[in-house]
Amino acid sequence: MSMYVNVAILKETHPHERRVALVPSVAAKLIKLGGRVHMQSHAADAIRLTDADFKDVVFIDDRDALLREADVVLAVQPPALDVVNAMKEGAILMSFIYAEKEPALVRRLLERKITCFAMERVPRISRAQAMDALSSQSALAGYYAVQLGATHLARILPKITTAAGAIGPAKVLVIGLGVAGLEAIATAHRLGAVVEGYDVRPETREQAQSLGAKFVETGIDARGEGGYARALNPQEATKVAAALTAHIQQSDLIITTAAIPGRPSPKLISSEQVAGMKAGAVIVDLSAEGGGNCEDTRPGETTRIGRITIVAPLNVPSLLAEDASELYAKNQYNLLALMMKDNVIAIDWKDEVLAKTALTHDGRLTDAETTPATKAA
Ligand code: NAI
Repeated sequence: MSMYVNVAILKETHPHERRVALVPSVAAKLIKLGGRVHMQSHAADAIRLTDADFKDVVFIDDRDALLREADVVLAVQPPALDVVNAMKEGAILMSFIYAEKEPALVRRLLERKITCFAMERVPRISRAQAMDALSSQSALAGYYAVQLGATHLARILPKITTAAGAIGPAKVLVIGLGVAGLEAIATAHRLGAVVEGYDVRPETREQAQSLGAKFVETGIDARGEGGYARALNPQEATKVAAALTAHIQQSDLIITTAAIPGRPSPKLISSEQVAGMKAGAVIVDLSAEGGGNCEDTRPGETTRIGRITIVAPLNVPSLLAEDASELYAKNQYNLLALMMKDNVIAIDWKDEVLAKTALTHDGRLTDAETTPATKAA
């Protein structure tokens, strides 16, 4: 085996995807680690980096030629089947996969004996935080939700005092306090809004408070497995709705991020509750990808319901592609660093992070029972 690892970075082809799996600062680290780095021409055009901005990286126009030589392929979105076809048998692929939505891709990964590390499978443990792309991308999305909401409001977030008089601060309610929700709270608080937060996991109370928000109490505990939430039963949902209604109606801006693994987004704001909101209020629904947290959400669209605006963007990290690419590239670099030693790939399958992130290896699904993501594959 040659004493270096051929790493190939694809140009993303999904519509509206502006991210790229490598940025120049991380390319330099990858080369230091023992990688020979090849990128598809114009891979970083969407973040306004030219090929010349990447030092010591070889650019190749022909995707299949790039893939033929690659020991490791890095991408953001699940690749097309053609990409897998063109890869060397036994090579490594790292990207988001979402196996339950990509059965044909998973079959092909198995047939081609690709060792696939699916970024969404990185375990949510302290040691894996530096590799956790779901977290890095969600944090950016949470920040951006506040910016998006603010631009759709006809009012400002902080209290302001002018010679003509004072204007009070806006009220922001964040529902779903995972990584994105907590970043939204921090951002709204920093911008001077009065912030409230709500989640069905009680441990988020203290987290919200430490970031300057008041926690909305509903008395429900819906902790699920692995730090995630479970779905509410109908009685619990009614109780939550009753407690949340007053807060929904007083808010100028509501940001929702609620998600339950392997299920469509829980509906937390009904059409009736929307109808009762303040004139001019805005909902930013970050869970549009999973169908949305509001009954009136139309994923990918900005909707007017009476005097309320609902903003439901898809792929928010791509809207912040420059920062999102940098953090994503660092996540992938950190994962790769776990398996590159002395300029060769050596995977220690006893390493929990690698074992759990792997989706396929040597023609087999790895521990197919441990996550909902692979059960359907
Ligand atoms: P997520 O994207 O799966 O869900 C977002 C939030 O929605 C969660 O906080 C969830 O509890 C909440 N939610 C679900 N149903 C709800 C409902 N009916 N009403 C209100 N809220 C509802 O969450 P994310 O951001 O992926 O985080 C998942 C967990 O993983 C969290 O416990 C987080 O702290 C943990 N985590 C741990 C890390 C580590 O230790 N390395 C890294 C990142 C996250």
